[in-house]
Amino acid sequence: MEDRELAARAVQAREEAYAPYSKFRVGAALLGRSGKVYTGCNVENASFSATNCAERTAVFKAVSEGERQFEAIAITGGDGRYLSPCGVCRQVLSEFCDPDAFRVIMAADERDYRVMTLGELFPAPFSSF
Ligand code: THU
Repeated sequence: MEDRELAARAVQAREEAYAPYSKFRVGAALLGRSGKVYTGCNVENASFSATNCAERTAVFKAVSEGERQFEAIAITGGDGRYLSPCGVCRQVLSEFCDPDAFRVIMAADERDYRVMTLGELFPAPFSSF
């Protein structure tokens, strides 16, 4: 799947964002090695710290459905900016994704995006192995 198609899926996923507290709506679309796309949005909570980011929503949906290998994730949020994943989401992605091959597509919209590898964004993840 082309990066721009994945970016378009993230833009679509943002429609479902539940962000009544920050009003900062985020969408993500995660491409599995199987070719299946798992979408996610941020899901906020009144206790704030229980909030789940869009990226982790997508990863947890995928893993809970049996997929553990991924090619790329597209993320979009805010207005016209290149949103890069927070540290917690980078750590979660690093659990499942090849740092040199996995693409993080930071999309202002479906036509305007920047791409970095996970390893460039997060060169030293925690690992217990
Ligand atoms: N958020 C995400 O969904 N992904 C990120 O990478 C950064 C932040 C959400 C969490 C919260 O609902 C809102 O954006 C403001 O931080």
